[in-house]
Amino acid sequence: MILVTGATGHFGSATIQFLLKSGLEANQITALVRHEQAANEFEKIGVATAIGDYDNYASLLNAFKNVDKLLFVSASDIGKRLLQHQNVVKAAVEAGVKHIVYTSFQRKNETEASPLWMVAQAHLQTEKWIKESGMSYTILKNNLYMDFVPAFLGEKVLETGVIYVPAQKGSLSAVLRSEMAEAAAAVLIGKGHEGKVYDFVNTKAITYDDIANTISEIAHKQINYISPTVAEYTDTLTKYQVPQEVIGIFTAFAVAQSQGELDVTGSDLKNLIGRNPLSVKDFIKQLYSEKH
Ligand SMILES: NC(=O)c1ccc[n+]([C@@H]2O[C@H](COP(=O)([O-])OP(=O)(O)OC[C@H]3O[C@@H](n4cnc5c(N)ncnc54)[C@H](OP(=O)(O)O)[C@@H]3O)[C@@H](O)[C@H]2O)c1
Repeated sequence: MILVTGATGHFGSATIQFLLKSGLEANQITALVRHEQAANEFEKIGVATAIGDYDNYASLLNAFKNVDKLLFVSASDIGKRLLQHQNVVKAAVEAGVKHIVYTSFQRKNETEASPLWMVAQAHLQTEKWIKESGMSYTILKNNLYMDFVPAFLGEKVLETGVIYVPAQKGSLSAVLRSEMAEAAAAVLIGKGHEGKVYDFVNTKAITYDDIANTISEIAHKQINYISPTVAEYTDTLTKYQVPQEVIGIFTAFAVAQSQGELDVTGSDLKNLIGRNPLSVKDFIKQLYSEKH
């Protein structure tokens, strides 16, 4: 039995779809959901559900009984997730889960000086707990979801002709979230993934200058990339009434990119899905040719 946590979210639900597409019987999959109401959509496709909340250890212990492989999708509440992740790993061990697959994050700097420390802390600790747990494990080091790149570019990039992000000349190796989920499904049903740490990254990393040039070509209009200082960026977004928490996350990822944290390329994900993942350049081309 494979149990997928975060099954109502983007990553978990896509992974379940890919498991089914790969030919795994629906009765071999359990979706962890927080509420009874969420069970309906899974019942329709023959996938069982277990009710569990990362905050509730007993619910996790109960849900993880008879689970061989667990896809642990990291929690979304950054402020609460250290304890939540501890609950998941402990419950998995106590319930006798054999293999845990964890969606972690891409990085180079593992110290408190990392611009991504607010995200990093729980992931690094969780990886440590998993490695010390005695369960077989596979760690998926997810780069930035490519789906989030347009948010960094802003909705009005075609009108303003400007991309404004403090990422300097740093590159990113983002991958579509659905392709990461497809690769996660391949890990769950494949063999030989025990003890492996996979880079869920693209085969080529690109800068915001590259992205500006790509949009310029598609839109037949000059798009310029400006890398402001963090203070200028914060002031500008604050003027546009972007919540401080959101500004914090955007700034952290942009500064991380400027420091090369997201500039990791490789073929782990390509090998798992059996083709080149969609490149950031082609993604941008598709997106802006639709808008143009
Ligand atoms: N690499 C990146 O760029 C990137 C970006 C953003 C996030 N992430 C990380 O990747 C994870 C998956 O991404 P996503 O896009 O699938 O996120 P998502 O769509 O927000 O899904 C999060 C899932 O986690 C579940 N969840 C949250 N808190 C929980 C709790 N206390 N107990 C049980 N389940 C809980 C949610 O359940 P409900 O439906 O009940 O809320 C939902 O199913 C995120 O949670 C985050 O850790 C990565």
